[in-house]
Amino acid sequence: METSDIKSKPLSLKFDGIKPFDPYLNLAEEIIKLKKEMNAVILAHYYQESEIQDLADFIGDSLQLSQQAEQTKADVIIFAGVHFMAETAKILNPGKPVLLPDLNAGCSLAEGCPAPLLKKFKEKYPDHIVISYINCTAEVKAISDIICTSSNAVRIIEQIPKDQKIIFAPDRNLGRYVMQKSGRDMVLWQGACIVHETFSERKINKLKFENPDALLIAHPECEETVLSNADYIGSTSGLLNFVTESEKNEFIVATEPGIIHQMLKKNPEKTFIPAPPESSCNCNECPYMKLNTIEKLYLCMRDKKPEIILDEDIMKKALVPLERMLEMSK
Ligand code: 13P
Ligand code: SF4
Repeated sequence: METSDIKSKPLSLKFDGIKPFDPYLNLAEEIIKLKKEMNAVILAHYYQESEIQDLADFIGDSLQLSQQAEQTKADVIIFAGVHFMAETAKILNPGKPVLLPDLNAGCSLAEGCPAPLLKKFKEKYPDHIVISYINCTAEVKAISDIICTSSNAVRIIEQIPKDQKIIFAPDRNLGRYVMQKSGRDMVLWQGACIVHETFSERKINKLKFENPDALLIAHPECEETVLSNADYIGSTSGLLNFVTESEKNEFIVATEPGIIHQMLKKNPEKTFIPAPPESSCNCNECPYMKLNTIEKLYLCMRDKKPEIILDEDIMKKALVPLERMLEMSK
């Protein structure tokens, strides 16, 4: 290839069609200014980059973020998280614009459970209800009976009459954990999170040996081999509360390491060791969550896009199991 060919190529395909911005702008200041002008609220998940978490009005786990979205008085919701979370905010606020800095911020659990396949799966179990983990698409929510998150899954299953048969989708690891905790049998959809399945039991055991005082804390999306060694299992907010209330000072954290930012903010004197993946990659970081950057957060507020647009009928149907979840979590 000639050098002239290379020069004629656009610098970055990712910014095609987006008006460039002054690279010396103080993005944090601009975001705060835009937020006031738009009367917007920034909701961020714990797995977001630290600089995004620091600009958010509210940081939380999936349940807390849905509750915030339901209650917000803001005119615009900026969702610093992944697509299914922003979709949930839209379903709860059909009349408000919901902006997501990068529309490609998906989730392996949502992608691994397409609604037409779940529909076929349901047909095999006509006397079962479907309880879906919130990490699924709006279309899957629309054919589910109840939604749950990792922080309320056990509580919700325990409210279902004992003789009611249940399909649990899409996370087999959370499903198995809930079965063990509740003593209920459920038919599990065989989905998994690419991030939480990456943790190496072998390397975690080595870390435990080298740090005998450290407690292993894990998200229920981890595999059984990790969960069976854990001193505490909980949702992201559960893990954060646990380390804050614990008398211990060292923790091996088996979830996406973005949460360590809040753990350190609340507990600057404590030590948090991210659980390592099997190979020497960064695959314990969620590649979807990390698609959102402060630059994209600024651009989505400046340009009022990308916006979450959903089919009206899907939104109406998906609202029913979501509202059931919010009611059952009170
Ligand atoms: P939480 O509900 O614990 O925030 O989990 C969401 C998630 O995507 C975990 O991978
Ligand atoms: Fe989905 Fe896993 Fe990323 Fe959570 S960490 S958003 S479950 S891919």
